[in-house]
Amino acid sequence: MYKLETIISLAKRRGFVFQSSEIYGGLNGCWDYGPLGVELLLKIKDSWWKAMTFRDDIEGVDASILMHPRTWDASGHTKQFSDPMIDNKVSKARFRADNLIEEHIVKLRSKNKNDEAEAIEQKLANIKENNDYLTIILEHGIKDPVSGTVEWTEVRNFNLMFKTFIGPLEEASSVVYLRPESAQGIFVNFKNVAETARQKVPFGIAQIGKAFRNEINTKNFLFRTREFEQMEMQYFVKPGAELEWFDYWKKQRWQWYIDMGMDESKMRWKNHDKLAHYANHAVDIEFEFPFGWGEIEGIHSRTDFDLRNHQEFSGKKMEYVDAVNNERYLPFVVETSGGVSRGLMAFLCNAYSEEQVTDDKGNTEVRTILRFSPKLAPITAAVFPLVNKDGMPELAQSVYRDLQKSMKVQYDSSGAIGRRYRRQDEIGTPFCITIDGESLTENTVTIRERDSMKQDRISIDKIKNYISDKIY
Ligand code: GAP
Repeated sequence: MYKLETIISLAKRRGFVFQSSEIYGGLNGCWDYGPLGVELLLKIKDSWWKAMTFRDDIEGVDASILMHPRTWDASGHTKQFSDPMIDNKVSKARFRADNLIEEHIVKLRSKNKNDEAEAIEQKLANIKENNDYLTIILEHGIKDPVSGTVEWTEVRNFNLMFKTFIGPLEEASSVVYLRPESAQGIFVNFKNVAETARQKVPFGIAQIGKAFRNEINTKNFLFRTREFEQMEMQYFVKPGAELEWFDYWKKQRWQWYIDMGMDESKMRWKNHDKLAHYANHAVDIEFEFPFGWGEIEGIHSRTDFDLRNHQEFSGKKMEYVDAVNNERYLPFVVETSGGVSRGLMAFLCNAYSEEQVTDDKGNTEVRTILRFSPKLAPITAAVFPLVNKDGMPELAQSVYRDLQKSMKVQYDSSGAIGRRYRRQDEIGTPFCITIDGESLTENTVTIRERDSMKQDRISIDKIKNYISDKIY
């Protein structure tokens, strides 16, 4: 397992991810995606979009981030979307009470105090109210990591939604929220989509878009950020059919990560002990990050919670009318909800590797490779003239320009060929194409595959097919 710092350093050095507003010292919990990061994001989203919508029963939408504030009353977010916070009276530092306890459990385990760790885990699983957190913290003498004291305040709820104002007046009647999940844009459009796309239950609506949460603890790079992107799909089914579809979507979503090159041994299922306010069944797909296991996607059975509440709060009928069976009902919903940026971080960690290689002269060096699936690699191919003379740059340029019409390609003519390979390995480019002397006479190139470093000689007019066979 490589260190997270090593991966973050590569991500910065090679232009995947930068700190937001870096020149001003950065903005906590916000990140910018550089030239390679944005390509990777787009490829993740594109693969997901195709997997979800290139089928008969799923339509797409792109709803606005600002929604009518009543949306969040109906969805339960105004009341229930909060974290239990505790302040230390000496340092004034603020923590999520549950995180503070979880970190204490990790410390106990590292000191082999497993009995105490298990006892606290039991208590955590049975939390009923905020006071229970404080009781655990005091009973187990959990100290403030900043001041080292146990001078704690009460535990209070802190709503995670970002508030802003619509129009020129900053008053209560103009408050709106940045959406904390993209899902509600789908629920409020359920009837619009069903009617305009003439879809019949069961069917789904997919969306990719930004979500915002005023997270208290934003550590671990892209894992928990304040601004992030989600790829969500809500699948509307007849009440009673939800568990069958829940199992179906669990399988589909697991397989998607495998198809995108995720190492299955770094993935596992996690059942929810504590269900969100809207769910009656929920599981997470977790990935083994350098800091431990963490959720990358949730599959939730949300019952008719959202449609029912929107019907009640808006006064508009949200029922589905099944004309064939002459029935009306509020569909149940099975949701798949993945984070794009969290997914990107998982794919980056999954791809990172280092290996020792020995060159022709017997020198060894470390080869850093991002072993992305060719489907996700930010740059699909790189084109090199072997030397910068004898007509090779001209032919290399023409191969490059031709490939550029259908994929993201880089041209590199500087330095020894080995160095050029290393530069591409480090950003995960799966194919490096070299134009050499033989290319000029035979119209062929060498194409080197990143992981095996094996080279094939193929004719120039076969390059596109060679690559697309590996991508689709
Ligand atoms: N609509 C359901 C929903 O939003 P969630 O489990 O809160 O469920 C779904 O979020 C996914 O969104 C997570 O699995 C994660 O990938 C991503 N996500 C949630 N909060 C995030 C954050 N603060 N930073 C980055 N990604 C986040």
